[in-house]
Amino acid sequence: MNAIPADDAAATTLPLDRHGRPLHDLRISVMDRCNFRCAYCMPESTYGEHYTFLRNDQRLSFDEIERLCRLAAGLGVSKLRLTGGEPLLRPQLAELVARLKRLEGITDLAMTTNGVLLARHAAELREAGLDRVTVSLDTLDPALFHRMSGGRGALDDVLAGIEAAQAAGFPHGLKLNTVVQRGVNEHTVPMLVERFRGTGIVVRFIEYMDVGNHNDWRPDAVVPSQELVERIHARWPLRAVPPKYPGEVATRYRYQDGAGEIGMISSISQPFCGGCTRARLSSEGMLYTCLFATRGTDLRELLRGGASDEQLTGRLREVWLRRADRYSEERAERHGRRKHKIEMHYIGG
Ligand code: GTP
Ligand code: 5AD
Ligand code: SF4
Ligand code: SF4
Repeated sequence: MNAIPADDAAATTLPLDRHGRPLHDLRISVMDRCNFRCAYCMPESTYGEHYTFLRNDQRLSFDEIERLCRLAAGLGVSKLRLTGGEPLLRPQLAELVARLKRLEGITDLAMTTNGVLLARHAAELREAGLDRVTVSLDTLDPALFHRMSGGRGALDDVLAGIEAAQAAGFPHGLKLNTVVQRGVNEHTVPMLVERFRGTGIVVRFIEYMDVGNHNDWRPDAVVPSQELVERIHARWPLRAVPPKYPGEVATRYRYQDGAGEIGMISSISQPFCGGCTRARLSSEGMLYTCLFATRGTDLRELLRGGASDEQLTGRLREVWLRRADRYSEERAERHGRRKHKIEMHYIGG
């Protein structure tokens, strides 16, 4: 048998980026619009009625998304997460779920949603093969919830969505994401803990981050996870548990009385770039290698310009090999922030 020439051998190995990190996760924003206007993500002052979102034909089609996911799986991606804006605003999302579920190499298919439309869609998404759902829920105080959603959301709708997801039985679980802001919703954290302890639902508390360019993030608006853990531990004793997989975003804690677990996502106080294996695809087909990126790679242009699978795979590989991102660690080291970042609603968090 002939020896494989060096170039071909390089093209068949899985790419590692410049810090030796493999590509495992692809987060796909299927919709740039959202039915909420959370101040930390899409403040009404910027995203008012005159804001121009993408046209339908500017968003990647299901065929295009499926194709990119199939090629990404060939480069090592096994985990897909559908995000938005709000992913459930994308018509026929269950059809996309069914297609992605069938892809070889994909072992984990998840979605992050604000939950308002979840009651309507939970069962069909589960049937289509969605493995996991994460619902964003910042508070259980109805008035505060309404205010934090930019006056657009009703807490009861989200709670109905969570119940529907529980009833639909997502095999790998249901999580809640809670962004905690000093002086805004931190006092309502105990309500969330109490309500979801013992339900099997994992609440993850997220340190408020300086994503995008439109929130008025300040370091003193962050509640460090350690502080929150201590407060929760004083009332409901906790013990730390090891990560489920290397590079897990959340640090896990279990209740000592057996009532389940919570998570802390500490991007500000304990950045986790070292294990970051995530790439992000915007709804118009831009590929980003960091949540805080300023530039991306236009894959739609290639897709619509007739690129072959080999050409697309080559571009994906090249982007990953070039990747050197570690924004959160750099922020912590230099106390500096970057200007003109991509927006969270555009890239899905
Ligand atoms: P699991 O697969 O369940 O562990 O979920 P995940 O933690 O990968 O995904 P999820 O979308 O639930 O992430 C929760 C939150 O963590 C996001 O909304 C972001 O606020 C934050 N986050 C996720 N990934 C990153 C990342 O790569 N960098 C930073 N800085 N924050 C992230
Ligand atoms: N800091 C931390 N998390 C954020 N999210 C949105 N904006 C921020 C921010 N500034 C989270 C939402 C949701 C996910 C999509 O991203 O709460 O869970
Ligand atoms: Fe809020 Fe999520 Fe919508 Fe952003 S995408 S406005 S965080 S619900
Ligand atoms: Fe990954 Fe960028 Fe987040 Fe660091 S800041 S964990 S490199 S997405």
